[in-house]
Amino acid sequence: MQHRQLGTSDLSISVIGYGCWAMGKTFWGDDVVDEESIAAVKLSLQRGIDFFDTAQAYGYGHSERVLGEALKDVPRDQVIIATKTGLEWDDAQEKIDRNSSPEYIVSSLEGSLERLQTDYVDLYQIHWPDESVPFTESAVAMKELHDAGKIKAVGVSNFSVEQMEAFMSVCPLHSLQPPYSLLTRDIDTEILPFCRENNIGILAYSPMARGLLTGKYDESATFPETDGRAGSPMWQGERLKRNVEAVREMAALAETHGRTVAQLALAWVLAQPGLTCALAGTKRPNQIEETAEAGDWNLDAETLQQVETIIEKHGAG
Ligand SMILES: NC(=O)c1ccc[n+]([C@@H]2O[C@H](COP(=O)([O-])OP(=O)(O)OC[C@H]3O[C@@H](n4cnc5c(N)ncnc54)[C@H](OP(=O)(O)O)[C@@H]3O)[C@@H](O)[C@H]2O)c1
Repeated sequence: MQHRQLGTSDLSISVIGYGCWAMGKTFWGDDVVDEESIAAVKLSLQRGIDFFDTAQAYGYGHSERVLGEALKDVPRDQVIIATKTGLEWDDAQEKIDRNSSPEYIVSSLEGSLERLQTDYVDLYQIHWPDESVPFTESAVAMKELHDAGKIKAVGVSNFSVEQMEAFMSVCPLHSLQPPYSLLTRDIDTEILPFCRENNIGILAYSPMARGLLTGKYDESATFPETDGRAGSPMWQGERLKRNVEAVREMAALAETHGRTVAQLALAWVLAQPGLTCALAGTKRPNQIEETAEAGDWNLDAETLQQVETIIEKHGAG
């Protein structure tokens, strides 16, 4: 498993990160089981993964709780825990609102620490931009937590360049977490070059396009209502068909290297200059067993070109 430095922070993290959203059990269907999540985390440690990405909002704290349980016997300095603030839920757990007020950023960290069974967070991120609070005010709160040593590094997620610039005028910014995969490349034009120029680490989320790039779905893929992929445009009609055809061809290409298409998708993300880590969303041990292996695959120029040709041929995305 290769490691990379996260921006200008002191953190060196595994290039495959463990994505803990599904562990929260909301949005991801009805097949997530806590015991399997815990077993998957333990297996991932054996496979060299040391970076775990969760959020307060994933399952209204459930993901943090399960991750805390899975890691409780591991020496704290051997794991790097990232979580996210800035999404607040009501007691009935019926709605989630953005809240990046300094008060919420600071007070919600206490809940995270308790659920994660730790006294500091390695990377604390603002989950989504909250336009109702000046970014500089949110940044002051993050800087204070950083200066106090309660968080070791500062990150944001889903921010634009302008939003990052405002934030950085007050607080060092170590990472951005945007969506990025072979099928989702919106950050290529502005955000990626900006992060490269400013040495901001990039944690790619949904790097397997929420499972589409694993090769297990075909044109007839459907999901229960409890699975957020049910209404997603990438999974509908002609677009799904084009994507599935491209995935099939990429699977054949991966096979010539003795690899799987999920590994190809993750290795492709890691081959893009400026990328620090691909967050592999995981439900079960066998999934992370497969995806962790992408952490030592450096794609050569020819393979990268072959992948581009397949994507273009099918108009995938
Ligand atoms: N900051 C944000 O706003 C944000 C948003 C999204 C995600 N994230 C982060 O990024 C992480 C990863 O993103 P993601 O979970 O959305 O998508 P992803 O990593 O692209 O896909 C994850 C899904 O793919 C399937 N899968 C994973 N490994 C597999 C394997 N080896 N074989 C077959 N299927 C496999 C699983 O679903 P099935 O088994 O049901 O197919 C899994 O839940 C999240 O866990 C979270 O930490 C952050």
